[in-house]
Amino acid sequence: GQLEGTSLPLFFGWFLLSPAKEKICCTSMDFLKTLDTLEAFKKHLNDFTQEADKEVDLEQYFKSKGPLHCTTKFCNYGKEDGAKEYAQNPAVREFYGSVSELSLSALFVTPRTVGASVALTEEQLLLWPADAEKEVEGASSLPLGSRAHVTLGCAEGVEPVQTGLDLLEILAVQQGGQKGELVEEMELGSLSYYGEGRWLLSLREPIRTPACFSSVYG
Ligand code: A2P
Repeated sequence: GQLEGTSLPLFFGWFLLSPAKEKICCTSMDFLKTLDTLEAFKKHLNDFTQEADKEVDLEQYFKSKGPLHCTTKFCNYGKEDGAKEYAQNPAVREFYGSVSELSLSALFVTPRTVGASVALTEEQLLLWPADAEKEVEGASSLPLGSRAHVTLGCAEGVEPVQTGLDLLEILAVQQGGQKGELVEEMELGSLSYYGEGRWLLSLREPIRTPACFSSVYG
């Protein structure tokens, strides 16, 4: 019937709780503010703007969307492959509504998105779909959970789904043996450049935040 078709959410994920959530927003803003003042960033500015000599204000360049979260399964109300199976997974049912700690291990920036990568625990991996890493060429052999991330902002006209794809792309480049050009030791960690506007800040100390496993019907 009509009701059955509406019983699956837009997506499942971990939703970051306050006040850690606000702190992560601040950390991300501070990082963007520092990044666009670095000489190394200015040297590669044409990754972000075609206009010569133009400055880029990264804080304005990226717009944040909705509550901070780490998507596990995008269901699109049941239209995505495996949505129903995911919702029926015993682990999903068991952990639904529970709070656990997410560990953010890196911040990354591309001309399209800014995000934080999430290092999932064994228990959290029980909620991770087996095919999440299969979407990007060269990324399918990455460990399960590699795509886990929090979208912190998107450039104009870019959909948040892009953030995970950008992360997988950086990880695929890393796996291919390219270390990235170590650009700077920052207070938060080491900043590396992977070409084509791709920047990764490996955090010295992971940022930990409580998060609730739930879903959005929106
Ligand atoms: P992300 O998890 O990278 O932030 P939207 O607002 O576009 O409907 O998306 C809702 C959430 O689901 C967003 O958080 C988004 O990206 C994620 N998402 C959207 N489309 C997909 C997809 N095809 N695969 C995985 N995640 C998706």
